[in-house]
Amino acid sequence: MKISQEETPLFSALKNYVHTNVLPFHVPGHKQGRGVPEFTSFVGPNVMGIDLTCMEDLDNICNPRGAIRQAEELAAAAWGADHAHFLVNGTTSGIQAMIMSVCSPGDEIILPRNAHKSATGGLILSGARPVYIEPDIDDYFGIAMGVSVERVTQALQQHPQAKAVFVINPTYYGVASPLADIVRLAHAYGAAVIVDEAHGAHLHFHAELPASASQAGADLIATSVHKLAGSMTQSSLLLVNEGRVDPKKVKAVLNLTQSTSPSYVLLASLDVARKQMALRGREMVDKAVDLARWVRSQLAEVPGLVLLDEAILNDSGCFGFDPTKIVANFRELGLSGHEVERLMRNHFRVQAELSDLYNALYLITIGDDHEMVETLEQGLKAIAAERERFNVVKYPAYLPSLPEQVLSPKEAFYSETRLVPLAEAEGEVSAEMIMAYPPGIPLICPGERLSREVIDYIEILRGERLSLQGTEDPTVTNVKVVKRYPALIRPRIDLAQIS
Ligand SMILES: Cc1ncc(COP(=O)(O)O)c(C=O)c1O
Repeated sequence: MKISQEETPLFSALKNYVHTNVLPFHVPGHKQGRGVPEFTSFVGPNVMGIDLTCMEDLDNICNPRGAIRQAEELAAAAWGADHAHFLVNGTTSGIQAMIMSVCSPGDEIILPRNAHKSATGGLILSGARPVYIEPDIDDYFGIAMGVSVERVTQALQQHPQAKAVFVINPTYYGVASPLADIVRLAHAYGAAVIVDEAHGAHLHFHAELPASASQAGADLIATSVHKLAGSMTQSSLLLVNEGRVDPKKVKAVLNLTQSTSPSYVLLASLDVARKQMALRGREMVDKAVDLARWVRSQLAEVPGLVLLDEAILNDSGCFGFDPTKIVANFRELGLSGHEVERLMRNHFRVQAELSDLYNALYLITIGDDHEMVETLEQGLKAIAAERERFNVVKYPAYLPSLPEQVLSPKEAFYSETRLVPLAEAEGEVSAEMIMAYPPGIPLICPGERLSREVIDYIEILRGERLSLQGTEDPTVTNVKVVKRYPALIRPRIDLAQIS
């Protein structure tokens, strides 16, 4: 029987379990909070009461046939897909599963260089070979745009055997690529389109925002419901559209990597967030868009403060823009994004989503109200007013160019390695990834040759105290490089890159 979006089958099953006062002789061992009273008294007995485990009336995530299945079917319908899988290890696990579902070892996949580190994880796990597309960089903001149809066409012409095209919809900063056109193009080459929609779970519910990946016809989509559609941190969806991918394979891959003990608190939050988005998503996202437009209008004339806005639609590869992401740039006042983040936090108790060399990013979501966004607006105005305008451009407006790819990420990951100081690593093949987090975009990936340009760029980031990650050495002073290639693997010096 078809159930309606008004219902929450999984959340209701959990509440039912709690209300029946069953004595739990099963994990989790805190037994609905009894065993950890200090924590229970802070987070509340209801949260602990529904922190349960797989059982008949609560279904099983590996082979769902009951409440989880119903909840997943409702989510698929709400996001316009054929199937949905609940994820409790974030969109990270969804991205890895998507790549593993469409690529076997040695297969090629076309992806933008600014893909999140989870895509590199997917490459290592699957053994796929990346064909990177370099997105255009907006010089003023120093950030990557989307990818253009021309670049994808070029990549597909040079790599017609590629199994998939990977697209980010939208980027962390709200920039959307011409996804529907890319889908048509990739499908014409027989490639699947897999989409990282970590920052776009709300797009499906508002006609004025860039199209959702499902609306654009993508085959696999990983979406962070927890980021922008109301569920709890770590809870995401993997959406599947039939035709080019095998839904059974996708499920088999998920069953390889996901926990057999998913948090029912997270799963229930997905169920309730889905209901809310299905019934009230349009109205709630509309409010967020209105609040963001209000902030933008108030900050439009502030000297020295520039917001990323629709003007970037003129940039190549930028097809759409999400106005709820407020990217504030103070470079004309000589402030880095990181300095803005710190000033806002220390003086106005406003915390940014991320900062980079140039920008601080503030997200306006379904959780905001006018008072909150007013505090944001006043803080940004005050910072601008306190600074003398002295037109300083502190940093070069570029990202390092694509390093030479010598080995596949998997080959490098499984090579014999040695540790060298990063400053002396020029010319070595990295066995690790290095990125600033957030946004988590790799500057170097396993298998790539470390160039002086990349090393210098990392030094600039370090000077700005941006959080560098990815190496075994937590200070990123040393990097693991390939000592010897695995016996059966010959180095491939000439993997074509698209630029
Ligand atoms: C672009 C992008 N993709 C994927 C992810 C991973 O998503 P999650 O945190 O849900 O695992 C992130 C996380 O910040 C991201 O920024």
